[in-house]
Amino acid sequence: MATIKCIGILTSGGDAPGMNAAIRAVTRTAIFHGLQVKGIYRGYKGLITGEIAEFKSQNVSNIIQLGGTILKTARCKEFRTPEGRAIAYETMQREGIDALVVIGGDGSLTGARIFAQEFNIPCVGLPGTIDNDLYGTDSTIGYDTALNTILDAVDKIRDTATSHERLFFVEVMGRDAGFLALNGAIASGAEAAIIPEFNTEVDQLEEFIKNGYRKSKNSSIVLVAESELTGGAMHYAERVKNKYLDYDVRVTILGHLQRGGSPSAQDRILASRLGAAAIEALLDDQRNVMIGIVHDEIVYVPFSKAIKNDKPIKAELVNVLRALSI
Ligand code: F6P
Repeated sequence: MATIKCIGILTSGGDAPGMNAAIRAVTRTAIFHGLQVKGIYRGYKGLITGEIAEFKSQNVSNIIQLGGTILKTARCKEFRTPEGRAIAYETMQREGIDALVVIGGDGSLTGARIFAQEFNIPCVGLPGTIDNDLYGTDSTIGYDTALNTILDAVDKIRDTATSHERLFFVEVMGRDAGFLALNGAIASGAEAAIIPEFNTEVDQLEEFIKNGYRKSKNSSIVLVAESELTGGAMHYAERVKNKYLDYDVRVTILGHLQRGGSPSAQDRILASRLGAAAIEALLDDQRNVMIGIVHDEIVYVPFSKAIKNDKPIKAELVNVLRALSI
């Protein structure tokens, strides 16, 4: 196998707090091992337009604490076409980039997998998404920070929910995955979580909500994962409003504020470990794998598994929420 001398790094898809910590770790570990590093801007788009700059150690100074991504990010339609990927490959050759580190979610790693196979490029992925929906890692970069942002918001909503004795539906992100909603509900003491992995009927919901109203406080908070499968918070609020006229219902959609902010200690450490492991993996001839951490150990998950396999939600967590909200 050809020796790797220059690594290209990009962030793609939705940004996630901790991506900068990962960029820093990849860059510095690569330089530590005597490799050259090139930062590719705007995800795969930068490979097509050639927006690329050499990264030295100082290019990644003072970024570990920043949310977002200094490399910018994009969802690139052109890269989904064979023509777009052919241009991207030409750019890599022209720039002398021998291997790629891609930081992103499901769609980004799918792109990496196809590109790596088509042109036989050494490529590793890092799980960067607030959704935590990648198989083969206990946590994705950005998930812990987003969870803490949700807690902060729900704690505040609870103040007004309690004062007005209202029922709040709070919609959180997750793109068809219920990790943020379920664990956010457990950690914030919400009465229920509506997640795409489990079907929640309105009647069943009433039972959950009554749990809140039975307590000394006459208010309830229900976290709803955004998803076509759940229909989102508005949908549930309408259904409950129409059926149970007694409840004073309100909706809060947390939206993109969940994607911002300074990464938590856990996300910074996760991103630093994964970034360092990405370079070690490439030097160790690992190809087409996502680096994850399972039970505190670094693991190498073939792209095919990380992308295709559904990461299961533990039924135990659903039961914990149910028991604790009585
Ligand atoms: O994948 C991360 C995520 O924030 C999802 O939770 C959400 O569905 C989606 O991205 C939103 O994407 P956009 O920023 O393009 O609206």
